[in-house]
Amino acid sequence: MNILILNGPNLNMLGYRERSHYGSETLVDIENLLRTTFPSAVFTFFQSNHEGELIETIHDAVKSGAYQGFVCNFGAFTHTSVAIRDALAMVEVPKIEVHLSNIHAREEFRHTSLTGAVSTGIIAGFGSRSYIYGVQALFDIASSK
Ligand code: DQA
Repeated sequence: MNILILNGPNLNMLGYRERSHYGSETLVDIENLLRTTFPSAVFTFFQSNHEGELIETIHDAVKSGAYQGFVCNFGAFTHTSVAIRDALAMVEVPKIEVHLSNIHAREEFRHTSLTGAVSTGIIAGFGSRSYIYGVQALFDIASSK
């Protein structure tokens, strides 16, 4: 399975930022964790702090038809970006939104997920394991077809 892992703003700073919320693992640690947990998957990892780059990556992925699933953590854009939501709505393969922290247990502005509303499902609050559960969900969906 070809899987696109999309990470939004500030997630390149994992390991340095607010460890009480996000833990001490870096984004590279999480990428390696996914590679070792799912050796049969082919991952493409993309992180950007720029809304337009995330949107264009989604466009390219839709046009190429190269992926069987997406796992997305749009960071703060989760709560604000109608433009990313509209791009994600074009994606016809399963797309799982993940968050390291439990966004519903935090500030009220994090309780709304614009992108989650057009995702297949949402996993939040399990630290780096949220990504594992997200990829596992893609495998489960694929095997139930
Ligand atoms: C986050 C939660 C968001 O509210 C926040 O802006 C992030 C990280 C998470 O993974 O818990 O950047 O998406």
